[in-house]
Amino acid sequence: MSDTKTPMVKADRRLSASGDANGAARTVHIRTYGCQMNVYDSERMIDLLRPLGYRPVDDAATADLVILNTCHIREKAAEKLYSDLGRLCETKSEKVGGMTIAVAGCVAQAEGELVRKRSDVVDIIVGPQAYHRLPELIAKAARQKGDALDTTFAVEEKFDAIAGSRRAGGVSDFVTVQEGCDKFCAFCVVPYTRGAEVSRSAAAILEEIRLLADRGVREVTLLGQNVNAWRGEGPGGREWGLGELCRAIAAIDGIWRIRFTTSHPRDMDDGLIAALAEEAKLMPYLHLPVQAGSDKVLAAMNRRHTAADYLQLIEKIRTARADIALSGDFIVGFPGETDEDFEQTLALARAVGYASAFSFKYSRRPGTPAAALPKQVSDSEKDRRLEALQSLLKAQRDAFCDSLVGKTLPILFERPGRRAGQLIGRTPYLQSLHACAPASMIGSIAPARVSGVTPNALAGEVVGRAARGLPAVFKAEDAEAPRE
Ligand code: 5AD
Ligand code: SF4
Repeated sequence: MSDTKTPMVKADRRLSASGDANGAARTVHIRTYGCQMNVYDSERMIDLLRPLGYRPVDDAATADLVILNTCHIREKAAEKLYSDLGRLCETKSEKVGGMTIAVAGCVAQAEGELVRKRSDVVDIIVGPQAYHRLPELIAKAARQKGDALDTTFAVEEKFDAIAGSRRAGGVSDFVTVQEGCDKFCAFCVVPYTRGAEVSRSAAAILEEIRLLADRGVREVTLLGQNVNAWRGEGPGGREWGLGELCRAIAAIDGIWRIRFTTSHPRDMDDGLIAALAEEAKLMPYLHLPVQAGSDKVLAAMNRRHTAADYLQLIEKIRTARADIALSGDFIVGFPGETDEDFEQTLALARAVGYASAFSFKYSRRPGTPAAALPKQVSDSEKDRRLEALQSLLKAQRDAFCDSLVGKTLPILFERPGRRAGQLIGRTPYLQSLHACAPASMIGSIAPARVSGVTPNALAGEVVGRAARGLPAVFKAEDAEAPRE
């Protein structure tokens, strides 16, 4: 599944940067919590609201409509909603002309009625598969308080509705290709909040990406909770998997880079691995969560793969594409996890050697099978394990970054940096890289020599000409992902 692990992304910042200046009479502020899918959804909500005259703003206090696009994956993320609603209560009472507050996303889906009970400042509750109905819900809320709740699973209707108002979001943009999850990992709320796995049609995805390419998007990240479970129909009614879809996207003029997230090990089929091996526009970076290294814990988690299955899969992927950099997700302190089990998680991480990875303390989520399991692990023990795992993963990440110093990588420049004359771009491995370069290079790929590593990015110098309009691609010999 897809989670950026950025506990709160202020999507409105990007939105207003791309904003419109049509002098709209109404304003909207969106606060986005959680995953990239939520960031994408927030952007689509803005697209849907623009025709109604809404203009995005950075400051909630000045907004006529405030949308909190929530995350339910861990308790902390869900509780954040209630503290933000508490603060908004005062803001709303002081706002001249009134303010409409909408709670969207997975908390709305999972506990919409509870949200209403806990906070009477909320006017609209809308789930992640119904937000295309926001315009009607806004009208409903204006007519009668307490009436505007929609948590139906209208996924296909939603995709159709958002296609019409789609705007491009810069050099790199997200495209949802799949939603929902049928895997039912024992700890996870996603199958309940996002619903069953649904794939968008290949035709609709390709049309959206062609439109984005025409508007200057050079990199697309295909999103799905189980993105590699995507299935669709290719020409002649042939069944396509994600690999075929990526090859078709690679054939679109103007698209230079393709990424996808998040993949499940069980859906990493040969077609996709072959596409990774052969399609140079597919970036050599793969987020492949494993969650734990002990077979006993993996079974209790209902992951339906063993540690050895995962390691074999990694080997196969590396054989197909030697320069692939790996990322993953881990949970520590799942019910019943012993010290010995946890040691196996550390051993697995050592065996893989991640370029980046995310790790979390197990959070007991109401309604999930794991919440009812005995032998819940104490919080202090989870803290200890998390610290140990994070220090290993940080060392691996640092080693990976250090291994790139002195190498030349193709950088897709996306936006100006904080310092004058500086641009920020991305390496093929999804790292940010700062370099001095003219603003005209935004939207181009240029070779840059990595000169150093900062806490959150790489520093580099542009060492060659930008390739504008060329399918500039990564060359495997330029850099190799480190391995243990
Ligand atoms: N507790 C902790 N982490 C969780 N994740 C999903 N559910 C939980 C939970 N209940 C993590 C998994 C997943 C990532 C997006 O969030 O690692 O891959
Ligand atoms: Fe990912 Fe498992 Fe949650 Fe599905 S149930 S979204 S596979 S963690």
